[in-house]
Amino acid sequence: MSASKTFYITTPIYYVNDKPHIGHAYTTLACDALARFKRLDGFDVRFLTGTDEHGQKVEKSATAAGVAPLAFCDSVSQNFRDLAAAMKVTNDDFIRTTEPRHQAATQELWRRLEERGQIYLGGYQGWYSVRDEAFFAESELTKGPNGEKLAPTGAPVEWVEEPSYFFRLSDWQEPLLKFYEENPGFIMPASRRNEVLSFVKGGLQDLSISRTSFSWGIPVPGNPDHIMYVWLDALTNYITALGFPDAEAPLYRRFWPSAVHMVGKDILRFHAVYWPAFLMAAGLQPPQRVFAHGWWTNEGQKISKSLGNVIDPYELIDTFGLDQTRYFLLREVPFGSDGDFSRRAMIQRKNSELANDYGNLCQRVLSMIAKNCDARVPQPGAFAPEDEEMLGKAGALLAEVRDALDVQAFHEALDRIWSVIRAANAYIDRQAPWTLRKTDPARMATVLYVLAETIRRVAILTQPFMPDASAAILDQVAAPGRDFAALDAPLVPGTPLPAPHGVFPRHETEEAAS
Ligand code: MSP
Repeated sequence: MSASKTFYITTPIYYVNDKPHIGHAYTTLACDALARFKRLDGFDVRFLTGTDEHGQKVEKSATAAGVAPLAFCDSVSQNFRDLAAAMKVTNDDFIRTTEPRHQAATQELWRRLEERGQIYLGGYQGWYSVRDEAFFAESELTKGPNGEKLAPTGAPVEWVEEPSYFFRLSDWQEPLLKFYEENPGFIMPASRRNEVLSFVKGGLQDLSISRTSFSWGIPVPGNPDHIMYVWLDALTNYITALGFPDAEAPLYRRFWPSAVHMVGKDILRFHAVYWPAFLMAAGLQPPQRVFAHGWWTNEGQKISKSLGNVIDPYELIDTFGLDQTRYFLLREVPFGSDGDFSRRAMIQRKNSELANDYGNLCQRVLSMIAKNCDARVPQPGAFAPEDEEMLGKAGALLAEVRDALDVQAFHEALDRIWSVIRAANAYIDRQAPWTLRKTDPARMATVLYVLAETIRRVAILTQPFMPDASAAILDQVAAPGRDFAALDAPLVPGTPLPAPHGVFPRHETEEAAS
C-alpha cells in the first residue's frame, strides 16, 4: 500500500439536542460507503464522526430536560454512537466537543488567530437564530404569519446585544475567492459552488465569534467571561481529531489537509466560507473538499418534528433491512440533489433491483452450480466472444465506479454496477445453461464460470454499499480475496462451494403486491 494515498473523510458533528433521524443517517452512510471504498482501493483512510455539544440550543434542551448540560450530552451523544454501530459504520474515531482534547485544540486555534491580529473586541448588536446557531443581517430576515421576524431558514430570531469578539472575516474575501478559483473542486456540486461564490462576492462582514449571555461553551483564552461561538468550536473538531495543535502528531501529518467534509446543504456556508477563512487566518491549510448533499422529504412533505413525520433510521433498518436501507438512500437520489423518501419507492427498489436483479442472478447461478457442477467452481473451456464480452464488462467496472466516487456520485456508481448485473441476467437468458445441461455440459460449465466470475467482481464492488450481503455472496463463490487488488484474482476451478442461500429477500406486503 502506498503511503501517499491518504483519505480523510468526515461527517458533520451532530447536535445533541435531537435524536438521530434520516438526515444524520444519510450523511454518515455516504461517508461510510466512501471510506469503505477507499480502503478496498488501497488508501490509508481516516473516517471521523461525532457530536457537537456546546451552544445555546443544547443548553436550552438540557434545561428543558431538567438535566445538567454534560449529563444531557452524555446520553444523547451515546445515541449517535449507537446508531453508527447499528448501521455498521466504520468510523475510526468519534469526537465529542466536550472532550479535553477538543477544548485544548480550539483554544489554541483562537490564540493563533489572536496572535495574527485576526480577532478584536467589539460589541454585537443584531439578530440571532438559536435553531441555526447563526447571526443574520436585517436584510436577510423574512416575516412570519404574525409579523414576527424569521431567519431565511424559517427559524425565529432574537435580538442580541452583548460585548463580543470579532473575527476579521472581511479581510478574507479576496483570498477566499482566489482559493476557490485555484481549487475548482473545493466546493461540490457545481451549483452549490456558484451559490457560495456569489455570497462571498457580495462582500463579507466581520464575524461575531464569542458570546457572554450564556455559559455552555469553551472559554475564550484570557477572558473567561466569553465563550466561543459554537461554529468556531465545532468546525475545529476536524483537526482536533488528528492531534492538532501538535504539528508532529502522526495523524495530523498524514491526513491534513486531505479532508473531504461531507455536509448537508444547510451548513455549507460554515464549511466553505468560515472554515477555510479561519484556517488560512491561523496559517493552516484549508481542506480538500466540501460536498453539500441535498435534503430528504417524507412522502413529499418537509420533515419536521412539529409535523411528526421524522423518519427514524432504526425503523427503516427493521422494516427493510440494513443493506436495503443503505442501498436505497444512496441510489434513489443523485447525490447533491434533494430527494423524497417514499415507502413505495423503497419497496420497489428492494424488490426489483435487489431481490430480482441482483438476488436472482446469484440464486440462479449458484444453485445451478450446486446441482450440476458438484458444488465446485466450474471448469471453463475456451471463452467464446460473448463470454469475453461479459467478463470485459465486469472487468471495466472498477474504473467506472472509481470515477463516479471520486466526485461522490454514489447513484452513478450503483447505476454502472447495475448495468453489469442486468447484462449478466441477459447473458444467462441468452446462453440458457439449463438447456446446455443436456446438450453441451462443457459449454454449460463455461457459462456458469463466466457468471460466477461476474458475480464475484460485482460483489467486490458492492461491498462499500451493502457490506453484509456482499460478504455473504463472496463467501458463496469462495472468492479468494476481497479488496480491489483481488479483482484480478479469478475464481479457481474445482474449489468447493458452500450451499447457496438467498441474501436479498423480497418485501412481501399488500403494497408490494399491488
Ligand atoms: N452541529 C452542526 C454541524 C457542525 S459540523 C462542524 C449541525 N448538526 S445537525 O445535527 O443539525 O445536522 C447534521 C446534518 O444533518 C446536516 O448536514 C444536515 O444537513 C443534515 N440533515 C438534517 N435534516 C436533513 C434532511 N431532512 N435530509 C438530509 N439531511 C438533513 O448542523
